[in-house]
Amino acid sequence: MSYFRKNIEKAKGYEPGFQPGQNNIVKLNTNENPYPPSPAVLKALAQIKPEQLRRYPDPKGDSFRLAAAKVNGVSADYIMCCNGGDDLLTIAFRSFCDKKRIVAYSVPTYSLYPVLANLQNCKTIEIPFDNEFNLPARLAGTNAALTIICNPNAPSGSLINIDELASLADELSGILLIDEAYVDFAKENCTRLAKEFDNVIILRSMSKGYSLAGLRFGYAIAQPALITGLMKVKDSYNIDTIAIEAATAAIRDRKYFKENIGKIKAERTRLTEQLRKLGLDVPDSSANFVLAKCGTDNAREVYEKLTQQNIYVRYFDLHGLTDRLRITVGTKEQNDKLLCALKEILIG
Ligand SMILES: Cc1ncc(COP(=O)(O)O)c(C=O)c1O
Repeated sequence: MSYFRKNIEKAKGYEPGFQPGQNNIVKLNTNENPYPPSPAVLKALAQIKPEQLRRYPDPKGDSFRLAAAKVNGVSADYIMCCNGGDDLLTIAFRSFCDKKRIVAYSVPTYSLYPVLANLQNCKTIEIPFDNEFNLPARLAGTNAALTIICNPNAPSGSLINIDELASLADELSGILLIDEAYVDFAKENCTRLAKEFDNVIILRSMSKGYSLAGLRFGYAIAQPALITGLMKVKDSYNIDTIAIEAATAAIRDRKYFKENIGKIKAERTRLTEQLRKLGLDVPDSSANFVLAKCGTDNAREVYEKLTQQNIYVRYFDLHGLTDRLRITVGTKEQNDKLLCALKEILIG
């Protein structure tokens, strides 16, 4: 006899990427930004007054909403702050899904979606991507209450164009949630779809492009009627005062953000080219990671040999991914260490 609901008892839970304790490692396994956050963030943190901690936070994080609205060319009532993008996913599943209201998404993708579906007792329709990670036409005909597209997709780094997503939003009778956790590294984003369609929710994260994975801050962009509904479901204080101050400072510092993204994109190009020279099949990526196919089915072995050298990348023991490694784009120094180790493992 368990105290838990049956599906919780049976669930494995989400398995986060390994977070090693030591410092002298090359950590390219969880898509963190390798550069520090903007100095404006540290300044904002230093200015926090005890009184701000004594009191409850602003429940909606209005200073951040205003700043994010300005960046995205919408009004503040299009924005909802979240405790990381994952918080928005939880809120969306709680808002739209239950035993009779299903979720649909393409696979392989972010492995948190089925975990959250299970918590809601909600059925999943998983439609496989083709080899080029094109938008599957069948996604439009599922009748799901919630359809999720991760764009750029994880772990492929592939990007579906906005017009295709606009057609999908138009065809769906339910919500289309576009998970743009990695969009800061892509050539375009879907903000305009949130303005055009009353069934589109866009997820943004401050973890990747703004170097704030440890802070836990993300946000939704959607029409005010949707934001009002989602606000009913969120925890009353889902973001704390320190996070609001830090995230607001980060999103306001456009110069630092652009430089940070520029450096990662340049390294992504170099890393991709160098991996290809080592014989790996690496499609162009729109994210801060690449998915490298190892040719022969030896990705796990390569992963283990890298780990032995304190170089951490991500291996997924999942259908369609067992011959690949997902590698976060690091600093030039980190990428060079990885490339050097890979050369030794693959070529000798
Ligand atoms: C595809 C995708 N969506 C959402 C998230 C959530 O990001 P966070 O909760 O750190 O904002 C992640 C985190 O890695 C992700 O990979």
